[in-house]
Amino acid sequence: MKMVLAAVRPEKLDVIKKALEEKGFVAMSIFEMTGRGEQKGILLEYRGEDVAVDTLPKIMLMMVVNHNDLDSVISIIRASGRTGHIGDGKIFVLPVEKMARVRTDETW
Ligand SMILES: Nc1ncnc2c1ncn2[C@@H]1O[C@H](COP(=O)(O)OP(=O)(O)OP(=O)(O)O)[C@@H](O)[C@H]1O
Ligand SMILES: [Mg+2]
Repeated sequence: MKMVLAAVRPEKLDVIKKALEEKGFVAMSIFEMTGRGEQKGILLEYRGEDVAVDTLPKIMLMMVVNHNDLDSVISIIRASGRTGHIGDGKIFVLPVEKMARVRTDETW
C-alpha cells in the first residue's frame, strides 16, 4: 500500500474528487492547509495595493491505495487538478505499513 499526499488547489477539490470517484477511488482524507512551492513568496494585488504572500491556501488530499492503483490515482489527480499555471500542486508518495479497520478485525 502507498499513501498519496496531494497538495492541490482548493478550487479544484470538487473536480478532483469527482474524477477519482468515477474511477472507483472514494476513500480519502482532506486537510485544509497553507504552503508554498518553489516560487517562495508571491505578489498579489489587493484593492490596488501590492501584497506579499508567503504561503497560499491549499488542500492536502490523503489517500491510501494499493500499489497497483498508484499510477492511476496520480494520473487522475494530474488530469483533473491541472490548470497549467504555477501552483497547481505537488504529489508525494509514501509507503504504508498497515491499515486496520476499527469496526472489524480486518487488517491490510
Ligand atoms: N518540496 C516540498 N515539500 C513540501 N511541500 C511542498 C513541496 N513542494 C510543494 N509543496 C506543497 O505543495 C503546494 C503546491 O506547490 P506548487 O504547486 O507551488 O509546487 P511547485 O513545485 O512550486 O510547482 P509549480 O512550479 O507548478 O508552482 C505548496 O503550497 C506546498 O504546500
Ligand atoms: Mg509553485
